[in-house]
Amino acid sequence: MFDNLYGTGQSTMDAIIRTTNVLIAGKVVVVAGYGYCGKGVALRARGLGAKVVVTEVEPVAALQAHMDGFLVMKMEDVSPRGDIFITVTGDRDVLTKKHFAKMKDGAIVCNSGHFNVEINLKDLKQLSVSYKQKIKNITEYTLRGNKKIYLLAEGRLVNLAAAEGHPSSVMDMSFANQALASAWLAKNYKKLEAKVYEVPAEIDQKVAKLKLASLHVTIDTLTPVQKKYLASWSEGT
Ligand SMILES: NC(=O)c1ccc[n+]([C@@H]2O[C@H](COP(=O)([O-])OP(=O)(O)OC[C@H]3O[C@@H](n4cnc5c(N)ncnc54)[C@H](O)[C@@H]3O)[C@@H](O)[C@H]2O)c1
Repeated sequence: MFDNLYGTGQSTMDAIIRTTNVLIAGKVVVVAGYGYCGKGVALRARGLGAKVVVTEVEPVAALQAHMDGFLVMKMEDVSPRGDIFITVTGDRDVLTKKHFAKMKDGAIVCNSGHFNVEINLKDLKQLSVSYKQKIKNITEYTLRGNKKIYLLAEGRLVNLAAAEGHPSSVMDMSFANQALASAWLAKNYKKLEAKVYEVPAEIDQKVAKLKLASLHVTIDTLTPVQKKYLASWSEGT
């Protein structure tokens, strides 16, 4: 909810900008995947003035992107329109031959999702007559007809390979959460089965409280009457 959304959102746009120095305002930025990372990237790209198009495979996420005000399209349909393509799905083959073939000259493609399989590099190489390192972290692929496609950071996580990754002021929460979850496991392992457990809500709340305190943000507290009211089904509509 925090490092994927705010960290990946910011650091991905940071990586694209510091690598290419491209003006984001007015560009068509295609974000593949509207999960936590995709939401962050789409929001930040919109904030910089891009026309953001989201691609999805999951109906609820797609509907949310639509109602958040983004254009939702199939990757194949938006391929000829995008200026910058950012994959954040955790999936493979999100951009393949059929997409590269339709992209316009000068399209920029990068990945900030799981691994360097989101963009099918084998397909991109097969379609290309040549490719060369243009400048640091930019590979220029020349396709037939002299069309160029620019791949950032070899398709690896662009925010890590071509920028600094997430700011420490969002990772602090993730690491605190992991440390406290490890302590919880060490304390409770005898009672646990060999399966995946969700992090207990108390740990999330503890980290959130500490973070709020560090930010000097104060919040209200429920009165006993409010607590009772919220826990009851007997009053209200
Ligand atoms: N760059 C980073 O620093 C960084 C940080 C955190 C997470 N990640 C990675 O980013 C990826 C996404 O993380 P998340 O938290 O957003 O996950 P998520 O599960 O919340 O979202 C992924 C979304 O992608 C969609 N999707 C899957 N296949 C698709 C396809 N072929 N086309 C379009 N959409 C597709 C899913 O429906 C889902 O809505 C993960 O692989 C995660 O490991 C990267």
